[in-house]
Amino acid sequence: MKPVKVGICGLGTVGGGTFNVLKRNAEEIARRAGRGIEVAQIAARRPNPKCETGATPITADIFDVANNPEIEVVIELIGGYTLAHELVLKAIENGKHVVTANKALIAVHGNEIFAKAREKGVIVAFEAAVAGGIPVIKAIREGLAGNRINWLAGIINGTGNFILTEMREKGRAFADVLKEAQALGYAEADPTFDVEGIDAAHKLTILASIAFGIPLQFDKAYTEGISQLTSADVNYAEALGYRIKHLGVARRTEVGIELRVHPTLIPADRLIANVNGVMNAVMVNGDAAGSTLFYGAGAGMEPTASSVVADLVDVVRAMTADPTNRVPHLAFQPDSLSDHPILPIGECESAYYLRIQAKDHPGVLAQVASILSERGINIESIMQKEAEEHDGLVPVILVTHRVVEARIDDAIAALEGLADVVGKVVRIRVEQLV
Ligand code: HSE
Repeated sequence: MKPVKVGICGLGTVGGGTFNVLKRNAEEIARRAGRGIEVAQIAARRPNPKCETGATPITADIFDVANNPEIEVVIELIGGYTLAHELVLKAIENGKHVVTANKALIAVHGNEIFAKAREKGVIVAFEAAVAGGIPVIKAIREGLAGNRINWLAGIINGTGNFILTEMREKGRAFADVLKEAQALGYAEADPTFDVEGIDAAHKLTILASIAFGIPLQFDKAYTEGISQLTSADVNYAEALGYRIKHLGVARRTEVGIELRVHPTLIPADRLIANVNGVMNAVMVNGDAAGSTLFYGAGAGMEPTASSVVADLVDVVRAMTADPTNRVPHLAFQPDSLSDHPILPIGECESAYYLRIQAKDHPGVLAQVASILSERGINIESIMQKEAEEHDGLVPVILVTHRVVEARIDDAIAALEGLADVVGKVVRIRVEQLV
């Protein structure tokens, strides 16, 4: 059989890695796919020194690839929302299958893209969009297809995890570690996407859709970054037996779906609490399988290429199949997506770590305890440290049982209103992940 001709748009970190893996593993890939895969054209504005493209034709215009009649699969690796969106729609309009690593594009425009793809009978594959080299989309969409999924929680931004790990282990400054992550090629073009949780929210939006069979709803995801975390809280969390991780959490409840990215205390002995550096991990809890954990490199040249090429193999195998017999884009049949709502953060439920800076007076702890008990908030543990030398204030740290967020907001407002409490109460969510 003749090889399938594909075009790569973007020859940066992931594009270069994809070209190299396709070339190096060509024979094994053909044995798996049933046909060879030939890169017939590349669109790139500049060469990639880590990638020897030889005689492969190169154009500067990505639309040359989308309009090339020989090409059956367009691999979109340029990133961003605008041009990538136009490119993918053009490729679909021209009847080409698409493989993309673009989480922002899928999270924001995926519903439209999949509808267009269905009209044209083509596949849009996006394994590389979430957690780089970890085949977590396939695991949830296919491997766990027998389960009713209850929740998932993931460390899905390598840059953020690298920063938190270096801060905790080496006491390094936030900005210094971020610079290193940028130099290593992990960070987004706009690194606020990494540290403010936007990149993780893109990925979480995708994971939640395929886990629960809901449309993509990035605009309803709650996002809180790690830039405000202090080493004091990292250390107090440690003393209480927890680690702070930047987690994406999606949970199905009776009343709706929680979709939230925020710093989170996790018991230090959980496997996921020990995922360090740029590594990613996603826990998925299903009613039949129980908790599963998927771990690996969340970014980088060849790990991400591994997922792009796996998608290509899937596309090549499925391209001759009747479109109605293919694995649906969002795991569930498109006419069976659920309208279970995404809950606003005030209606989400979690346990909480609170740090209060109090004046060293008798009765302060009693006032704190009564504010919480009046609101039905149960305290799991409490720790009071000696007064700080520089201001004489006493840090009071406590962890609550699970409670709806609006109730904690109300308690925090009351705590901040106490004459003996100084400044803002620090609040970090806590998840047990069992
Ligand atoms: N900036 C992302 C990260 C790259 O740090 O995880 C992979 O999506």
